[in-house]
Amino acid sequence: MNYQEKYNHSINNKEQFWAEQADKIAWFKKPETILSQDENGFYRWFEGGKLNTAYLALDYHVENGRGEQNALIYDSPATNSIKKYTFRELRDEVAKLAGGLKSLGVEKGDTVVIYMPMVSEAAMAMLACARLGAIHSVVFGGFAPSELAIRIDDAKPKVIISASCGIEFDKVIPYKPLLDDAIEKAIFKPKYTIILQRPQSVATMIEGRDIDFIDLQNNSQSADCVEVDATDPLYILYTSGTTGKPKGIVRDNGGHAVAMHYSMQDIYNVKPGNVFWTASDVGWVVGHSYIIYAPLIYGCTTILFEGKPIRTPDAGTFWRVIEEHKVDCFFTAPTAFRAIRKEDPEANLMKKYDLSSLKSIFVAGERCDPSTLEWLQNISNLPVIDHWWQTESGWGMVSNMMGVEEFPVKMGSATKPVCGFELKILNEAGEEVKTNEEGFICVKLPMAPGSLPTLWNDNERFKASYLTTFEGYYLTGDGGYIDEDGYVYVMGRVDDVINVAGHRLSTGSMEEIIASHPAVAECAVVGISDDLRGQRPVGFVILKDGQNIDEINLENQTITLIRDKIGAVAFYRNTILVKRLPKTRSGKILRKVIRQLADGEQFTVPSTIDDPLILEEIKHYLRERKVGKVV
Ligand code: COA
Ligand code: AMP
Repeated sequence: MNYQEKYNHSINNKEQFWAEQADKIAWFKKPETILSQDENGFYRWFEGGKLNTAYLALDYHVENGRGEQNALIYDSPATNSIKKYTFRELRDEVAKLAGGLKSLGVEKGDTVVIYMPMVSEAAMAMLACARLGAIHSVVFGGFAPSELAIRIDDAKPKVIISASCGIEFDKVIPYKPLLDDAIEKAIFKPKYTIILQRPQSVATMIEGRDIDFIDLQNNSQSADCVEVDATDPLYILYTSGTTGKPKGIVRDNGGHAVAMHYSMQDIYNVKPGNVFWTASDVGWVVGHSYIIYAPLIYGCTTILFEGKPIRTPDAGTFWRVIEEHKVDCFFTAPTAFRAIRKEDPEANLMKKYDLSSLKSIFVAGERCDPSTLEWLQNISNLPVIDHWWQTESGWGMVSNMMGVEEFPVKMGSATKPVCGFELKILNEAGEEVKTNEEGFICVKLPMAPGSLPTLWNDNERFKASYLTTFEGYYLTGDGGYIDEDGYVYVMGRVDDVINVAGHRLSTGSMEEIIASHPAVAECAVVGISDDLRGQRPVGFVILKDGQNIDEINLENQTITLIRDKIGAVAFYRNTILVKRLPKTRSGKILRKVIRQLADGEQFTVPSTIDDPLILEEIKHYLRERKVGKVV
């Protein structure tokens, strides 16, 4: 079947299409229904099916002849070490850790928060939860204690699994004090924490609460896989929305397993036994899906890389890993390649390595600028596939489906809708726009399996955020258009979400934090373009009457506030004092216009603007502070 036939089949015969895909995984009990709606009217896949995701990822392969194949290669330039686990070894480690969790009272349906750096034990922790039917919620290590506390309060974990420290380039970041601080800040208190002691910074343990990870694992009876329903949650992953409170994206077991398996075949075009490497972090959805679950469920060897694209030790590190582990398929964020390109524009370091195993490079997580894509194509001579997805979908919604039919790449486009996702571009009135016309990117319901069934403990927010703007559609939050050949162009978020080095952050939550400064009357945070990170946040602040704090002091204080409350990853560097902010006549701040001004883009001044002169003032401040690309 060519792409069009397969895609049409996936849309016109949804249940048949996904029943065929579901047949490819090892259910304990096959589903009775393929597609149904629950009591809230939300779509559910594979109701009645029974399975265990950790079984699919590990035990199944041991039972079917892959026991001695490497399942996971931990490659850590940060610690100068490499460690390999076969499927049998990883299963055994996971089963013991699951036994340890069980001995602490963790059962099916309980939640466990995981706050860990990129170490093998993070993968074990996720899989151990899955083995017990417990629901993990991984929190990215770059988040500050306040963000972790918000997630603890929402997920209410019985246990938190963490490590004594993470390593960022050559900087050791003690995690344990951050964890202690987060638990202190949270209203909900977990009974136990399990701490992986790393030699780079050994943590002080709290008697009766903190348990040593390795001791627990080594001294526990192995636990078996617990049967769960296809519709039971596998994990919660918090992601930035438009306000300070993150959204708890729920991922189910059945739909997710089927989607992960399917994507390896039809999007990434790999075979079981291949080596699949995603350079991301387990704290993000890309890490969940393509460092852990998809490669393992599909029987690939996965690489868990604790390092950076540059300076660990140099900009050739990715190419070294690809040669050393004979990587077949590589996936990372465009930012990583921008960083490499900056340090090694001629790709001289690449020439030192044999990359003959590599068949394709995939990028996602943020918009891939054509210049980076072109550079990568030229230096690698390989298909470079930009694909578009979100934490909510859990896997690609638009891609060049390399296992179905390879299309010529068009710069700036992630190519075509993935089977199972019926994409439409709608205007404000909910009507489909014409070819090449920009609008809201929406997915006609039901979304493909693996996509979020709801938000954790918040069905109403799920409806309000995604389902009610356009009846019958899921609102992605991205804007874009489809061209005459059916190629999809994602132009960026239409809400207050920004993407900093592939990290999804909310400008709304930054505004809440800056507004908490006693001198601030009003503020707007916008994501301006950044050559390395894609975007970075900049704050525009109006002071309260009578306040005379100088700009640099305010800037330093707000930088500290954002660092303390969100984390260093926000990469907040500039606060600009202004007298007025551009607004509509009804008082809505025109953030998009400020961004366009800062980026030096051409734009039409909105007819709803209260006073167009304010734009000149903003330009003046930006020029004075040398922020952005004002023309
Ligand atoms: N734990 C703790 N702190 C972290 C962190 C983590 N996991 N990740 C980032 N940070 C900190 C950094 O140490 C830095 O702190 P600093 O301001 O004290 O120096 C800050 O957050 C900003 O980080 P970043 O924007 O990543 O800048 P950088 O200079 O450290 O690294 C790159 C730049 C391009 C090398 C890095 O962003 C990168 O590897 N990007 C790829 C992105 C990626 O894989 N995204 C995954 C999504 S698919
Ligand atoms: P996250 O949920 O962290 O994966 O972030 C999802 C958001 O990142 C999307 O809504 C897009 O705005 C952006 N994004 C991800 N992949 C791409 C891509 N290939 N092209 C453009 N934007 C992307």
